Amino acid sequence: MLESMRLYPPVWGMSRRAVEDCVLGGYEVKGGTTVFINQWAMHRDPRFFENPEVFHPERWADNLIKKLPTFAYFPFGGGSRICIGKAFAMMEASLLLAAIAQKFRLTLQPEYPVVLQPSLTLRPKHGMKMLVTQR
Ligand code: HEM
Repeated sequence: MLESMRLYPPVWGMSRRAVEDCVLGGYEVKGGTTVFINQWAMHRDPRFFENPEVFHPERWADNLIKKLPTFAYFPFGGGSRICIGKAFAMMEASLLLAAIAQKFRLTLQPEYPVVLQPSLTLRPKHGMKMLVTQR
């Protein structure tokens, strides 16, 4: 799940508006400016993730999450506005996945076009048509 949300973060970007002039990481930011922070880009940054485009869940095995700098991986945001549903969402997704995968095998239909749609949340534009077979 950590790896799925690394490559396909449901919240792929967030923004903040500066209430007054300030300096952020050496950049002067005028009051009223909107600053974007982008999970999609950070999660694919080779400084933090080896072979970033490759789906490799094992990369998380050795407690990678604890070794990453803050905001290298932030599918649930961070700081004072961090997602309050984080623990619930992770638990729910794990339980659902385990319950479904125990009984069924899901196979994406061959050649099905998985097109990403970066709306408010990231989603597959045409859904993902699966063949469902009983295990
Ligand atoms: C995979 C599932 C989820 C993802 C990826 C996600 C992601 C996020 C992110 C990135 C933020 C921060 C937005 C920002 O700082 O601008 C956020 C905030 C929030 N999330 Fe989630 N979320 C998820 C599930 C949930 C669930 C299940 C709930 C409620 C049960 C929830 C409730 C909230 C609330 C209330 C905030 C606003 C917190 C605040 O501003 O103080 N989220 N979420």
